[in-house]
Parts: sequence; C-alpha cells; structure tokens
Amino acid sequence: MSLRIAVYPGSFDPVTCGHLDIIHRAAKQFDKLIVAVLNNTAKNALFTLEERQQLLRQVTGHLPNVEVDGFRDLLVNYMTHKKAHVIVRGLRAVSDFEYELQMASANQKLNPDVETFFMMTNPKYSYLSSSIVKELAKFHGDVSDFVPDEVAEALRGKFG
Ligand code: COA
Repeated sequence: MSLRIAVYPGSFDPVTCGHLDIIHRAAKQFDKLIVAVLNNTAKNALFTLEERQQLLRQVTGHLPNVEVDGFRDLLVNYMTHKKAHVIVRGLRAVSDFEYELQMASANQKLNPDVETFFMMTNPKYSYLSSSIVKELAKFHGDVSDFVPDEVAEALRGKFG
C-alpha cells in the first residue's frame, strides 16, 4: 500500500502556534506530513527561507512523521515530485474561505489527483497571522502566547 503523504504549504514567516496546531493535528491523519515553505518573492519576508525552515524544524523535531522542506515551484508540481496527493490548509475564519476555494479549485484543475483537506484552526488562534506577530514583535509587544519560544527568541534577534 502506498504511503499517505500530505503537504502543508505556506509562507511560515514565521511559524505561529496556529500553524503548529494544524501541524500536530494533521500529522496524526497521514503517514507523512511535509511542511513546505514557499520561497515567495511576492511577500517581503522577515525571515529567509533557510531561517523559516530551521525554526519549523526546531518546533516540529519531536514529531517523527513531519518533514520540513522548501519549494519555489507550482504547488502541484512540487506535490508530484514528492508523490503527495493531499494538501492541508487551515481555515481561520469565513474570510479565508474565498481565497482557499480559489486555490483549491485551481490546484484541482491543474492536477485532478490532488485533494485539499481543510482543518478548522483552533478558535484560540483564529485571529492570528504571521503579520500580526511581526507587528507585535516590532513594537516589543509580548508574543509569548502566539509563537513557540524558539520563534519569540528569533523575533527578538530581528527586532532587538
Ligand atoms: N494559524 C495562524 N496563521 C495562519 C494559519 C493558522 N492556522 N493559517 C494561515 N495563517 C496565516 C499565515 O500566517 C499568513 O499570514 P501572513 O499573510 O500575515 O503572512 C496567512 O495566513 C496566509 O498565509 P499562508 O498560509 O502562509 O499562505 P500564503 O497565502 O502565503 O501561501 C500557498 C499559500 C503557499 C499555499 C500558495 O501561495 C501556493 O501554493 N503557492 C505556490 C505557487 C502555486 O502553486 N500557485 C498556484 C496556487 S493556485
């Protein structure tokens, strides 16, 4: 039987507790979960691709079936390369729905073998985004409830 491999793609600039909640829960549903960090030139990233991957490895190191990788390709092409058929995405609020529907439909059109699985983000984190965390950190706000310790430390490194 083939392995059930899922990909959780995103910018992860940086990974937050909301992302981590999805990673923990999705890892239980698949044989292997690849957290794939997009090298997205459209977004002005605070952390480099390598830094984002490194942080993800630090906070998921205890999950044996989670792998962290980077990609700069079309997601469906990357998935073919990884022999993965499932995309995992977290839905935080109704406002995420339209964008996610568009992406899922486009990906399905590009490769009908690819399915997108949506998971409801823990309501504790429904308002959270990487941008909010960066904004807080920039003005020396307390981010300890929103990101793992390793990420809070890395943010202090960026903003002093
Ligand atoms: N908890 C907390 N925050 C969350 C979250 C959760 N569960 N889920 C999403 N977010 C936040 C992210 O932090 C991010 O916040 P930011 O905008 O402040 O950085 C925002 O929601 C959405 O970002 P993300 O989930 O990283 O998605 P994205 O829009 O940056 O990237 C990809 C989406 C990577 C899946 C998509 O762009 C892609 O597949 N690109 C590859 C090229 C491609 O194939 N394009 C065609 C797609 S049809």
